[in-house]
Amino acid sequence: MTLRFTSTTERPHLIETDVVVVGAWEDRTLTRAAQEIDAASGGALARALASGDASGKIGVTTKLIGLAGVRSPRVLLVGLGEPAKFDAARFGRAASESAKALRSGPARRAATYLSEVDVPGEDEAGRIRLAALAGDAQAYRYTATVKPKNGAGIEALAIAGADASRALAEAEAIGAGVRLAKELGNLPPNICTPLYIAAQARELAAREANVSVEVLDRDAMRALGMGALLAVASGSLNEPQLVVLQYRGAALDEKPYVLVGKGITFDSGGISIKPGASMEEMKYDMMGGASVLGVMLATARLALPINLVVIVPAVENMPSGSAYRPSDILTSMSGLTIEVVNTDAEGRLILCDALSYAQRFEPRALVDVATLTGACVVALGKHAHGLFSRDDELAAELIGAGDRMQDRAWRMPLWDDYQQQIDSAFADMANVGGKYAGAITAACFLARYTERMRWAHLDIAGTAWDEGRKGMATGRPVPLLVQWLLDRVAAG
Ligand code: BES
Ligand code: MN
Ligand code: ZN
Repeated sequence: MTLRFTSTTERPHLIETDVVVVGAWEDRTLTRAAQEIDAASGGALARALASGDASGKIGVTTKLIGLAGVRSPRVLLVGLGEPAKFDAARFGRAASESAKALRSGPARRAATYLSEVDVPGEDEAGRIRLAALAGDAQAYRYTATVKPKNGAGIEALAIAGADASRALAEAEAIGAGVRLAKELGNLPPNICTPLYIAAQARELAAREANVSVEVLDRDAMRALGMGALLAVASGSLNEPQLVVLQYRGAALDEKPYVLVGKGITFDSGGISIKPGASMEEMKYDMMGGASVLGVMLATARLALPINLVVIVPAVENMPSGSAYRPSDILTSMSGLTIEVVNTDAEGRLILCDALSYAQRFEPRALVDVATLTGACVVALGKHAHGLFSRDDELAAELIGAGDRMQDRAWRMPLWDDYQQQIDSAFADMANVGGKYAGAITAACFLARYTERMRWAHLDIAGTAWDEGRKGMATGRPVPLLVQWLLDRVAAG
């Protein structure tokens, strides 16, 4: 379900819609829109807060029905917490909790006035975008293989604001990218195979202006010498695909931004097979690939004046008689040789060849996105992407973009001190670096393939999906990356 966005300048007590969303603070003071509802209804909101039926605690929502003097039949009051602590993160939380409260109710149309509340560091357009994206995220339903268990929920969201068209267009494009990423991630690995990802990329290129696609099959990759990627693919009956999408929004001679996304459609671990617990979550091991496809979609929808290349090595990692094994020595496309110590460290093996391939585009900046290591989840949990780069400027750009979109990344070290952990007696390097600093040694491996490049690596192992039986793909870091590209356009 996609949400339709509009902006409105009507006041909350006068607008005719199914539900009006306004905010209250923890000290029981009301936002401007809540004051207007309160005045029109003879003090209904103040009374609900005083009696304890409603709360101004951050994210707590209370539905009030049939308020006299208010045209809409429902008012949703959402708590904003302590005024002194209010920031963009809390704004996002209030917006997303209010959208969540409306997920299964009878209301189809909502109007939110949260966009009128001041947020440090955000202008009106930024607030409108965050409110729209929070609503869109809650409107997503997975229906590909199961009937939806909730009602339809909100279909149209009006957001208070005067000049909102650019902000809403950006939210719509980012929302579409997030939805594409989520959908590919949530699909099971028997549907979302490498061939399926390639087909989706072809469809994207056919639908969006200025996007072209090329898909390299096993033979084409063999001709390029992609021995690392093909080794990972060798255990699976699903054919590997290297998907290359190009978007042209700027002059032909302008160097592109290049994004590479890990597209392991299922990671069993291979011969170094994973334990059974949570192995089903390894269908999400293609979320790096899915998210860079999402960024491509958003970029094309916004017709950004840049050139962008997106590369997805799509491969399944399976054990079989033809599978690669621990001790195998692989020769990657760059000529560097790799000792396989663990076939479950497969992400870096498909990425290294994709990163070598990326060099032909002479990227202005190269960013790879990957559910690369469990160690990154141990280090940063489910909240921040791990960010690795030798380039301080590029790292700052990405962190700044993530901060603005509530899609945050945290920088990790990439010092040469760690490089010795992946030394090998039998090859140029080993594919694992021992038990310490696993997220960093994985990044060190990729660093050997991006030596003179303006490159960053995002480890999204903790952030790409919500874990557990009911967890689903998050669509992160699509918002961070699209914001980064918008910032690059603005910087000229
Ligand atoms: N796809 C996994 C990483 C992963 C694990 C992501 C758990 C999210 C949750 C990756 O291919 C992997 O298996 N990495 C190994 C590397 C190890 C063998 C050096 C890991 O993290 O255990
Ligand atoms: Mn693995
Ligand atoms: Zn993996």
